[in-house]
Amino acid sequence: MHIAGARMLRDDDSFDRHLPGGIQVMASVHFTPLAVARHAARLLAPAPGARVLDVGSGVGKFCLAAAAEVPGSRFIGVECRGHLVRVANHLAGDLALANVEFIHADALDLDWSGYDAFYFFNPFGEQLFDEVFVLDRTIALHPRNFVAYITRVRSRLAGARIGTRVVTYHGLGAPPPFGFELARSDRIGTDVVELWVKTRAYDQMGCW
Ligand SMILES: C[S@@+](CC[C@H](N)C(=O)[O-])C[C@H]1O[C@@H](n2cnc3c(N)ncnc32)[C@H](O)[C@@H]1O
Repeated sequence: MHIAGARMLRDDDSFDRHLPGGIQVMASVHFTPLAVARHAARLLAPAPGARVLDVGSGVGKFCLAAAAEVPGSRFIGVECRGHLVRVANHLAGDLALANVEFIHADALDLDWSGYDAFYFFNPFGEQLFDEVFVLDRTIALHPRNFVAYITRVRSRLAGARIGTRVVTYHGLGAPPPFGFELARSDRIGTDVVELWVKTRAYDQMGCW
C-alpha cells in the first residue's frame, strides 16, 4: 500500500477527507467506521482465500479497509449507484490494493454462488429513511422496495452453502435468514457487529 494510502485508512476523518464534498457530509451515517470494518473483515475471512461480497458497497469503505486488514482474502463490493462505484475505484487505485474490486450493479442481479461470506451494513434501510438521511435521489426509494429486497436476500442466503458467513452492522433489516445461527455479537465501542454462520440446509419444500 502507498504511504498516502496508509494515511487514508488511519482514521475515519482521514478517509472522509478523500471523498467528494457532497458525499463527505453523509459519510458518518452511511459508511462503516474503520474499526468496525477491520473487525468484520477478520470475522468474514478467518482463513486465507475467502471471497467476501459487500452488498451495497457505497464508496468502498468497508472493502478497502478489509482488503488492507486481510490481504490473503478478496473483497468485492457491489453497488447500484454508479458515481459511488467510481469513487471506490479511484480510492482503490490510490491504495494500490490487489485484493479488492467493485461492481456496478443491483446486488440482486449478481450471482452470489461464488462467495464464501457476505457483509451487510443495512443496505436497504435507506428505503425507509426520512428524506434528510438519504444519500441522494439517484435511486428509487420506497418502503415497498425494502420488503422486496429483504425477502429476496433472505431467500438467496437460505440457499447458500453450509459454512457461509454473514456479518451485519446495524443489521440486515430482518431476522437471520433460514439455516443461519448467531455465532457472535461483538461490541466495537458503541457499535454492534454480528456474525451469523449457515449451519443447516434448507430444501426447496421448506423442510430442514
Ligand atoms: C449503508 S450504505 C453501506 C456502504 C458500505 N457497505 C459501507 O459499509 O461503507 C448502503 C449502500 O447500499 C447501496 N445499495 C442499496 N440498495 C442496493 C442494491 N439493490 N444493490 C446494490 N447496492 C445497493 C446504497 O447505494 C448504499 O451505497
